[in-house]
Amino acid sequence: MEVKTEIYLGDSKEILKQIPDNSVNLIFTSPPYADQRKSTYGGIKPHKYVEWFLPISKELFRTLKPSGTFVLNIKEKVVNGERSTYVMELILAMRDQGWLWTEEFIWHKKNSFPGKWSNRFRDSWERLLQFNKQKKFDMYQEEVMVPVGDWAKTRLKNLSETDKIRDNAKNGSGFGKNVSNWLTRDKAYPTNVLHLATECNNKNHSAAFPENLPEWFIKLFSKNGDTILDPFMGSGTTNFVAQKMNRNSIGIEIVPEYYRVVKAKIEKTKYVLFEPKVKYETIED
Ligand SMILES: C[S@@+](CC[C@H](N)C(=O)[O-])C[C@H]1O[C@@H](n2cnc3c(N)ncnc32)[C@H](O)[C@@H]1O
Repeated sequence: MEVKTEIYLGDSKEILKQIPDNSVNLIFTSPPYADQRKSTYGGIKPHKYVEWFLPISKELFRTLKPSGTFVLNIKEKVVNGERSTYVMELILAMRDQGWLWTEEFIWHKKNSFPGKWSNRFRDSWERLLQFNKQKKFDMYQEEVMVPVGDWAKTRLKNLSETDKIRDNAKNGSGFGKNVSNWLTRDKAYPTNVLHLATECNNKNHSAAFPENLPEWFIKLFSKNGDTILDPFMGSGTTNFVAQKMNRNSIGIEIVPEYYRVVKAKIEKTKYVLFEPKVKYETIED
């Protein structure tokens, strides 16, 4: 099977217009966080964030298949001693745009360094917001099952007979919450908290995420031959992982230097590449 990796240089807001309607299975991305890493690739002021993002999410909505999923990795920063609310405002604005806010996953950065702040502790997690166009979407839950290990046996030992079935009766599903059902099984479904180290092999970008982050979501929300889009490509982690997993992918990056590094790497692997068609513009504060 030939895997296609298309990358574009420019502003997602414009480039996305070239992507056909309802053509993408999964959008997985980490946009610039408000006002962060300003010296590296620009930053958007927290109060301008929603206004900046909405034209992009509008295009993402158009390009995503009805059964597709959009996963947005984001975390609000602290400004003047208070958490910004732009992520919450963004969720509300995206709902107005037609998106369903289906789920929130937490990426627990299990190896974050210790630190000392006067009024808070070190940030050690990020949000992965899941949006969909409709309630029924493609999800391959069996692909991300985890080994049960000994937890079921340990927990069961400490539960009374009533406790073993109580959740089940409330839930009425006849299976899901009855802990004893899992005793004979090797694998269980994971939770919505991902415990992953931040380390990654990618030294070409200051904000690259670890490969196992996109990998987990690509497994969960797509299958071989599907198309994955990352409109804030950076060093291309999503695209390279997609390529390894036999998924087609599209990446968009505004900084020429990052784009060129990804392009060179893709050329080495001799996959199909599309040249940029429009000029990029810089982000205004
Ligand atoms: C958080 S980084 C993504 C890092 C990426 N996930 C990786 O693993 O390397 C966000 C990227 O979005 C790019 N960017 C910012 N504004 C953009 C825009 N309007 N269109 C396309 N790319 C943009 C930045 O240059 C930066 O490389």
